[in-house]
Amino acid sequence: MKVVLAGGTGFVGGSLLSALIAEHHQVVLLTRNLEKAKHLSGNAVSVVEWDAKNGGDWEKSIDSSDVVINLSGESVANKRWTDSVKQKILDSRVNSTRAIVHAISRAEKRPSLLVNASAIGIYGSDPEKKLLETTPKGEGFLADVCDSWEKEASKAENLSIRVVKLRIGIVLGKEGGALKRMLPPFQFFLGGPLGNGLQWFPWVHRDDVVRSILYVMENNEIQGPINMAAPEPVRLKDFCKVLGKVLHRPSLFPVPIFVLRLMVGDMADMLIASQKMIPQKLKSSGFQFRYSHLEDALQAILKY
Ligand SMILES: NC(=O)c1ccc[n+]([C@@H]2O[C@H](COP(=O)([O-])OP(=O)(O)OC[C@H]3O[C@@H](n4cnc5c(N)ncnc54)[C@H](OP(=O)(O)O)[C@@H]3O)[C@@H](O)[C@H]2O)c1
Repeated sequence: MKVVLAGGTGFVGGSLLSALIAEHHQVVLLTRNLEKAKHLSGNAVSVVEWDAKNGGDWEKSIDSSDVVINLSGESVANKRWTDSVKQKILDSRVNSTRAIVHAISRAEKRPSLLVNASAIGIYGSDPEKKLLETTPKGEGFLADVCDSWEKEASKAENLSIRVVKLRIGIVLGKEGGALKRMLPPFQFFLGGPLGNGLQWFPWVHRDDVVRSILYVMENNEIQGPINMAAPEPVRLKDFCKVLGKVLHRPSLFPVPIFVLRLMVGDMADMLIASQKMIPQKLKSSGFQFRYSHLEDALQAILKY
């Protein structure tokens, strides 16, 4: 298939790009940074520059593609959430999605599928409720961002194409994401849960995120929002315990919420959210997770 991938230089996108190449798809990588993308992707893909907000020559690559995948977005975890950072987090997602849907609408031959990232943040936080794809939007900054992001993607449904919105949980891999940030304190015997640790932690192994995107491409009946987290969520205190076991380090000091707030500001709300997300649609469609058990996932990631 001809696949246009935006955000393919990132933590999830880079891994997806390798899988698409391995499966012999013809990939066009949309990026804001041509040199970096060429360096990362080698000669196996075409690299096309865009600014992730306006139309331009890049729109030609959408024409006659089969699938468009958009994983673009300013990182939510790299900087303190000032007003301007929050605006960037929102704009980078809404504008990139809007530009892609606009390009699809102008294409002479439209793709049949748009796979657009979204996130677990759409559900806000709930201490115990199971979060299914049918659960309504929650409260808070990230819930509002995800809602606006998904609404832009949904506009492609009016173009009679299949639209999948990936409500991605906390992706585990060694080179990036949450785990990369959690490892150093554990290695220095300082790792422990945030707050009381009773919050549900919606982890998913990066390989399963990539595998489920490939699965969605092949299974035409899957559409709409898709929860993308492992089928067995755990509480944060248990996550820290298992991580400590795999690293041969104890999970020692819980970080009190007021300290966390002093350290990271508003972002604390994201870190202490409780989100028992269940991948109901993926499970009922027959998707087989490679990593359902946390310890297996962490062993696989950390053995290298
Ligand atoms: N990782 C997770 O745990 C997780 C959890 C839930 C949801 N998600 C969502 O899944 C998607 C992929 O996640 P990821 O961890 O792979 O993200 P990432 O590593 O931060 O990469 C995202 C990509 O988006 C592009 N980008 C960065 N800042 C941008 C901006 N200001 N405007 C437009 N594009 C920008 C970059 O591509 P170029 O530089 O090539 O343009 C970058 O490679 C994101 O939308 C993220 O919100 C991730």
